[in-house]
Amino acid sequence: MASPESSAAGGVAVIGSGLIGRSWAMLFAAGGIPVRLYDVDPRQVTGALDNIRKEMTLLAQSGSLKGALSAEEQLSLIGGCSDIREAVEGAMHIQECVPEDLELKQQLFAQLDGIMDDDVVLSSSSSCLLPSKLFAGLAHRKQCLVAHPVNPPYHVPLVELVPHPETAPATVDRTHALMRKIGQSPVRIMKEIDGFALNRLQYAVISEAWRLVEEGVVSPGDLDLVMSEGLGMRYAFIGPLETMHLNAEGMLSYCDRYSEGMKRVLKTFGPIPEFSGATAEKVHQAMCVKVPDDPAHLAARREWRDRCLMRLAKLKSQVQPQ
Ligand code: NAI
Repeated sequence: MASPESSAAGGVAVIGSGLIGRSWAMLFAAGGIPVRLYDVDPRQVTGALDNIRKEMTLLAQSGSLKGALSAEEQLSLIGGCSDIREAVEGAMHIQECVPEDLELKQQLFAQLDGIMDDDVVLSSSSSCLLPSKLFAGLAHRKQCLVAHPVNPPYHVPLVELVPHPETAPATVDRTHALMRKIGQSPVRIMKEIDGFALNRLQYAVISEAWRLVEEGVVSPGDLDLVMSEGLGMRYAFIGPLETMHLNAEGMLSYCDRYSEGMKRVLKTFGPIPEFSGATAEKVHQAMCVKVPDDPAHLAARREWRDRCLMRLAKLKSQVQPQ
């Protein structure tokens, strides 16, 4: 395994080199930032470095590599590391990417708390664990927050920054600036809440989708078209609030015209679905007609999705220069 270079000082330590750790390593390198990639299982780091090399080569060939540096230059910024102390030494940012298990993350943070500097940011990739639980009791808790990426992070730029009540404002500001520097789109969640913002919106959509199928209002295939051919067409460019603003003569005009109708419809929404039983079976069968659930078909469809996202990202950069 490549040992970390001394030039990694002032860079980022990525802890956990699975799916998300690899993506973060590629994103930081795209921003010209040295990365030390550490994993409790050294074979994971070796596999991650191989995987990153392959990915970057393919991205460069298709003209979709991020950043101003070549693939080789970016690869030279990423070093594997088998010692956590070496990984974090001199780093300005630590991005934790270990499995979504509160106890495991708490143990790791207790270990990091003992070896981290007073000016490094400790950031968790957690999808849904509350930062006040993750970082409780740490001496360096003011330097801690969640920076939740969206899968696949290389192609979907959003990062939710979630502080806990004791996170220092400077910690959020610094992480926000770092995310902008590497080309991601950070949003500030002002107070922690279960599911943050993205998953709360996602679960609201999934719930109503499920109820509509369960009640026989629409087939699973057509339900997905409502999003991909309808709402999703504009949501890649404008959010639901701006949609309201544009769909009338401004927001207040929209509320005037449509609030009664929205409230009437919202009152008909049903209870939280069970996501099991006959409806689960029905939705599963419908999905498998389109994409059989064996690993090869799922992987092929994910690759197709990623290629679509890359083309969408290019389009967005043309119509919305950052
Ligand atoms: P993964 O299972 O692919 O990778 C986890 C890695 O952490 C493995 O390589 C494992 O060997 C390593 N690991 C386990 N214990 C460790 C320790 N104590 N120290 C160092 N490394 C350790 O998991 P994945 O999918 O990359 O998820 C990581 C985090 O990112 C989770 O918190 C997850 O919720 C979050 N996340 C995941 C998304 C996804 O779609 N997979 C999306 C957004 C966030």
